[in-house]
Amino acid sequence: MCGIFGIITNQGNISLGKVVLEGIKRLEYRGYDSCGIVSLSNSKLYIKKDSGKIEEIQKKINLADIPNDSKLALAHTRWATHGRPTRINSHPHLDCSNKIAVVHNGIIENFLELRKNLSQKGHLFKSETDTEVIPHLIEDKMEEGFNFKDSVVEALKSCSGAYGLAVCHVDYPESIIVVRKESPLVIGIEEGKTTYLASDIPAFLPLTRKCYIMEDDELAVLKAGEVDFYDLNNNKKIEKEIQVIKWNIDAAEKGGYEHFMLKEIYEQPTAIKNTMKISKDLLKSFANTLWSAENIYITAAGTSYYASLAGKFIISKFLGKYISPIECSEFQTQLSNSLKSDSVIIAVSQSGETIDTVEAIRWAKTKKNVKVLTITNVVGSTLTRYSDKVIVTQAGPEIGVAATKTYSTQVLTLALIALEIAKLRKVESESEIEKYEIALRATPQIIENFLKNNVDLIKDIVETLEQSAQFFFLARGISIATAKEGGLKLKEVACRFIEGYSAAHAKHGPISLVREGFPIIFIAPPDETYQRLIGNIMEFKARGGKIISLIVENDKTVLELSDITIKIPQPGDKYHNIFSPITFTPALQLLAYYTSLHHGLDPDKPLNLSKTVTVH
Ligand code: AGP
Repeated sequence: MCGIFGIITNQGNISLGKVVLEGIKRLEYRGYDSCGIVSLSNSKLYIKKDSGKIEEIQKKINLADIPNDSKLALAHTRWATHGRPTRINSHPHLDCSNKIAVVHNGIIENFLELRKNLSQKGHLFKSETDTEVIPHLIEDKMEEGFNFKDSVVEALKSCSGAYGLAVCHVDYPESIIVVRKESPLVIGIEEGKTTYLASDIPAFLPLTRKCYIMEDDELAVLKAGEVDFYDLNNNKKIEKEIQVIKWNIDAAEKGGYEHFMLKEIYEQPTAIKNTMKISKDLLKSFANTLWSAENIYITAAGTSYYASLAGKFIISKFLGKYISPIECSEFQTQLSNSLKSDSVIIAVSQSGETIDTVEAIRWAKTKKNVKVLTITNVVGSTLTRYSDKVIVTQAGPEIGVAATKTYSTQVLTLALIALEIAKLRKVESESEIEKYEIALRATPQIIENFLKNNVDLIKDIVETLEQSAQFFFLARGISIATAKEGGLKLKEVACRFIEGYSAAHAKHGPISLVREGFPIIFIAPPDETYQRLIGNIMEFKARGGKIISLIVENDKTVLELSDITIKIPQPGDKYHNIFSPITFTPALQLLAYYTSLHHGLDPDKPLNLSKTVTVH
């Protein structure tokens, strides 16, 4: 969702406009529909903003054209929530005196009431946004005699909701005030020279590796090359440690690939190998907690939810207990009267910031003895703060809005936990467990071989499906997760309404859509559901369906029933069906990617989507 980038410097040789524009561009992946920049010079605010993508806005107005002597600027990409994506609703928003400018991520939930009160006091509003109440509230507090920082503190006392925000004031050109409450913000620093702020580290990583990660309810006063932090609740100064970012900006750049999505699809073998190095002790402690649990839930959103569906299937096989999957946004509603205090909850989130997942866990933790086991790709993310144990997947930064490599590393992590459970419970012999381990270790090679040899086939299938704005991915058992994830990827990046569904359940309604030539993609690993899936394939074939199947290399039966097959390498005893969500899904990711390109879309910038969903 929205992105914030800001800078305050005492250096004369910095081309501020260029730095700010490049910084906010590095946050484009978060998803947005408008962009704005405010700078300050000669006791005046200079604002450039409009709706549209940065490239389009640049053609109309040069966002980077800010006064030469300006030493401070804030930039924002807006993902519309309150009010349509228009120039007026774009950030920054100002107070009545045009002295205070605010950029804001998140939502001020009680903005209607605040707006009414402020209007009664004579404040004039220009936009439909919730954000605009903030500069007016600050203005009010300054009129009451508070200084800049304390006005921000006082103003926020009346706001409820989530925010990451940055404020500048023409009378305080040497500072920017930044506040975090449930919406991520990081501060980058070149000591004594320049300070940056951003909603995500990649925005300033080419400029500095030193940063402070802000926590909820913290306020920071940014000056050129220095920062002071305060606890928002008592306005007292706090000390924070500088962190040095170890990963390289290359990890957050396209590295020769046309899109982040494609790069990240191809990074999966490495991401999986790195994630396999997770500490055995940590895996064991997850396994122990699950083994001793009575009630186990797994919760997540979107792709992380589908990874959870696949993972809970694998864990349940070895644990011998059912794990209830619940979408995070439904968690509290569905369990309000039934969450037992000794439950264990597995929370899965790439970003660790998805508000519904964080809120589900925060609520669950109000119950005594509930334990939370988190799997995330982001160290120190909000979710980790409410967790008893955390595994950080080693996918590396994922910039593409459509999750790819984080999906496979999430499933892998859940599979690794499952194997530790198998060892603990001794439900399988050591040699059997070793077979699973060998198969898991072979997954990077299988994916690598597949990606190397199948791009032309996938492109041909994209052409075959050109006229099909709707079709199904059908599967049974564990592969339903793969089908759902495939459907989600196509919806996200290719704007096709493709549904991932249970092959058996499809008879109870969806089959009525099938006509001559209607494409159905079957996910058909030869697991325990295979024979019945063949029956389902026959049913769809009998109705004229065009059968495209994802099969393992030596599957002759489904091959003969299909019009087209996509073959997943099956290196002898190194392949195992239970890990098919890891080895089969990259084919569907590629299909979504090339379908997106075929229809002239940008897979890295899907319409209306945001990488991290921080509103309910
Ligand atoms: C995946 O392609 C989507 N971008 C989306 O469904 C995502 O998986 C979901 O928003 C959850 O995000 P999280 O993993 O960061 O919690």
